[in-house]
Amino acid sequence: MMIKTFGLVLFFSLSQSKNRFMPNLPLGEYCLVIDKVYRCESRTNHTIQFNVYSSKKTSNITEMKGNITFLIPFDVNLTVDINFSSWGSTGGWIPNYYILIRKKACSSLRNLYGNAWFKYINAFNVPTDRCPTPVGTYITSGYDLTKFEDNNLPKVFFYGKYKVVFHFKNVENKVVGCMVAELNFIRPWETPI
Ligand SMILES: *[C@@H]1O[C@H](CO)[C@@H](O)[C@H](O)[C@H]1NC(C)=O
Ligand SMILES: *[C@@H]1O[C@H](CO)[C@@H](O)[C@H](O)[C@H]1NC(C)=O
Ligand SMILES: *[C@@H]1O[C@H](CO)[C@@H](O)[C@H](O)[C@H]1NC(C)=O
Ligand SMILES: *[C@@H]1O[C@H](CO)[C@@H](O)[C@H](O)[C@H]1NC(C)=O
Ligand SMILES: *[C@@H]1O[C@H](CO)[C@@H](O)[C@H](O)[C@H]1NC(C)=O
Repeated sequence: MMIKTFGLVLFFSLSQSKNRFMPNLPLGEYCLVIDKVYRCESRTNHTIQFNVYSSKKTSNITEMKGNITFLIPFDVNLTVDINFSSWGSTGGWIPNYYILIRKKACSSLRNLYGNAWFKYINAFNVPTDRCPTPVGTYITSGYDLTKFEDNNLPKVFFYGKYKVVFHFKNVENKVVGCMVAELNFIRPWETPI
């Protein structure tokens, strides 16, 4: 429902503008720059442990490092709740900008990430790119976050800086895993700061 409404808003916004590449439009085609990834502060009893952090490899490449430990399979019983906060014009995060909830977390993310999923699976040396992801600890020597650009996310979004929290919940609606990404949707002709 949310996606539909969102899509409709996008459609009208785009069709009303003669030139959709007008630099001051609030939304449009973007380049996705992931600044940071990190684990959530609260991790009590998590059975999916995102021991990840980001590290700058070069001035324009940031890598995800660390490991992900699945004490339970990453399977159809899990729901992923993706919560966007936006960066306010006067600073500070404004919560609940956009919320996306998907059942069957593994296959949903696999579909959403597209080619980026396979690169991610490869980087973490996961033995299968299919769902479920089996129990295990998966370690990466570095996943180049610019590779995340090749995904199936909507190609148009509102420009800006966002904090995205991924909560993974089990059938009892308990949080079993959590991680955070901070990212920027920038205009294609802009360069990241
Ligand atoms: C963690 O698990 C223990 C044992 O099942 C339980 O007593 C405790 O309340 C749980 N803590 C949280 C924050 O869920
Ligand atoms: C996974 O990361 C955590 C936190 O950085 C670390 O303590 C642990 O040793 C790592 N596990 C493996 C198998 O690398
Ligand atoms: C990063 O910068 C280098 C040197 O300026 C450039 O060759 C490379 O294409 C850039 N990579 C990306 C992913 O933008
Ligand atoms: C998870 O889903 C599988 C496949 O449907 C099922 O066999 C299993 O019992 C479920 N586990 C839990 C904890 O619900
Ligand atoms: C989204 O995140 C904000 C800030 O962390 C939190 O206050 C809010 O409850 C979350 N919403 C949902 C639906 O999880």
